[in-house]
Amino acid sequence: MIRYLEKSGIFILETKNTHYVFGIDKAGYNRHLHWGDKCNAADYEFTEISGENSNNSMLDEYKQEITPFGSTMYRECDIKARFSDNCREISMHFENYDIDGNTLKVHFEDDYYPLQITLNYTVYEAYDIIKRSVTLKNTGTEPIVFDRIFSAEFALPSEKPYTFINTNGAWGGEFIQTDTVLDGGNLVFESHRGASNHNAAPYFIAHQNADENSGDVYFASLAYSGNFKVSANRDAYSITRISIGMNDFDFSHTVLPGESFCAPPVYCGKAEGFGEMSRNMNRFCVEQLLPKQFNDKPLPILYNSWEATGFDVNAKHQTELAKIAADMGVELFVMDDGWFGKRNNDQAGLGDWFVNPEKFPNGLDELIENVNRLGMDFGIWMEPEMVNPDSDLYRSHPDWAYHYAHRNADELRNQLVLNMTRTDVQEYIFNCLDELLGKHNIKYIKWDMNRPFSQTGAENLENPQMYSYLHTMAVYNIVDRLKARYPHVQFESCASGGGRCDLGAISHYDQVWTSDNTDGIDRMTIQKGYSLLHPIKTMRAWVTDIAGINKPCSLDFRFNIAMQGSLGIGGNLTKYSEEDLEICKKNIAFYKAIRNTVQFGDLYRILDIEKDEVLCNEYVSTDKTESVLFLAANGTRFYKKKCNLRFAGLDEAKTYRFTLDGTAYQKGGAYLMHIGIPIYVRGVDYNRAIVLKSV
Ligand code: DGJ
Repeated sequence: MIRYLEKSGIFILETKNTHYVFGIDKAGYNRHLHWGDKCNAADYEFTEISGENSNNSMLDEYKQEITPFGSTMYRECDIKARFSDNCREISMHFENYDIDGNTLKVHFEDDYYPLQITLNYTVYEAYDIIKRSVTLKNTGTEPIVFDRIFSAEFALPSEKPYTFINTNGAWGGEFIQTDTVLDGGNLVFESHRGASNHNAAPYFIAHQNADENSGDVYFASLAYSGNFKVSANRDAYSITRISIGMNDFDFSHTVLPGESFCAPPVYCGKAEGFGEMSRNMNRFCVEQLLPKQFNDKPLPILYNSWEATGFDVNAKHQTELAKIAADMGVELFVMDDGWFGKRNNDQAGLGDWFVNPEKFPNGLDELIENVNRLGMDFGIWMEPEMVNPDSDLYRSHPDWAYHYAHRNADELRNQLVLNMTRTDVQEYIFNCLDELLGKHNIKYIKWDMNRPFSQTGAENLENPQMYSYLHTMAVYNIVDRLKARYPHVQFESCASGGGRCDLGAISHYDQVWTSDNTDGIDRMTIQKGYSLLHPIKTMRAWVTDIAGINKPCSLDFRFNIAMQGSLGIGGNLTKYSEEDLEICKKNIAFYKAIRNTVQFGDLYRILDIEKDEVLCNEYVSTDKTESVLFLAANGTRFYKKKCNLRFAGLDEAKTYRFTLDGTAYQKGGAYLMHIGIPIYVRGVDYNRAIVLKSV
């Protein structure tokens, strides 16, 4: 619900459990007032700031929804413009507002220049989530150049320092949680790489001593896969503010007369504990954000050939793998890299999206038909945004790759990035995919992207510093167009593992490849980080032959971990023993029985592998009639893991039945959550999955 208190000029955005409050004060400034538990609406008011002097600017003390550059404001700002006469100050006043259902638009105008600024809010009441963004409109006759356009500013309520959680990783170690106390100064999480990247996430989670179940947690996540910036600051007045949006590093955007620009949206919320935060975001993403074609359907169990065959793909070997995969119960067979152009290694072929005639002399359909005959759907890998200099595409269109005329184009993995801001490049890529999907019975595209950008000299653009945004939008647009034309095709976002896993990607793709690291032990940490603010069903997790990089872990263990997302298999099945194959069959059948609970249920993180030596995650169906609890540990010390396993998220009044280590239990939800059952976690390969059903 959205309310405007006319007399005081205050807007109240109300969700199930929270109020988000701001307004326009008497002097015309936009002022942030509250984010958190609900208060009496009539009590909200602006408090005046006194004691301004030459060293203390009043504007520096304001908490604002959006801060324009200029005047006696010396802290971080969100919008920076250059008008045609080189004036760089924005002085905005409130004009009016529109409320349309759960959407609010608050319009401001510059006092002199023809610039309109609109703050956009949409309230998702049931999820305790609010969407924010900002729209800039040039109503004049001269261009306006923007050097910074952030999507939103947030201010936190307490004067005490907050701890900021982000995931700072790298290839093979994505989503590794970091906790940083911001006592003073700036804390920045960002990407300069062109895409959202492995190193940091485009969000913030801020709290003071919160845990899974309690404590105020504030969070906001940018739905954007380009260069981003999350810039938090705690100032001399002990105010913690965060600005979030497109990175202003190497950024500039010109809004032409009559045109407008809307910055990427941010989804924010306040929750009680990290658990509630993740569950709210999970449900919100599944029900509201994910593309509608597959959001409410369980994702299939897939097999992917990459780790088994590398670039060495052909119909015979892929069919051999497909037979074994089908026999195990796999539903979708995905052929990875190597099927096109002259792609025998990573040195050639990218860009030539035509079936390699030596590897597939009878075309692709021979393999697809084999796979379909085995009862599986067929999927294929592509890396549409890239080109190898050794490719027909590059030879005929060298200018299609980002480059500067008098600089060498740096290759990474022997490839260059295509300039997707060009419409001819967009059409080429769309047509390649359109032809592939139109001609063949393909149900899945794994869309990969294996290098960051460089030499981004898009000379087709008036302002090449907008490349990251335009490139990202072009990618989204192609995926959307293909989805509209082929609604039965699923899309996966992959970027050398988890280099493009963000709410922007999740708004267009049905799932993501979380990490190339499929080690069961490392995955416990990676998947925990992913689960913080991303929907579980989008997390592709494969069981492969990496039986523990540092510590051994069995096939059962690897399944136990991979089943906590959308299960995939990626090993070289032709080398599996009869016993291994039976383990796969058993686990796949088990996953089919529980996958609705995992993919659509609520996740309760009960024990943390980093802190507790044991991983314990419980997924509970939304009606609380079913639950599956996973336990895993890779060695516990000092005999201390004899403990009571307390379940979570159950219905206190319901009775549940389950079996653990041969013992059958029937207990009430209240007993299971408050007292629990004794367990003894020992050994390097401990893994259990317990299915609870209400009686
Ligand atoms: C990187 C991906 O993360 C892998 O899964 C695989 O698809 C390779 N690229 C193929 O080149």
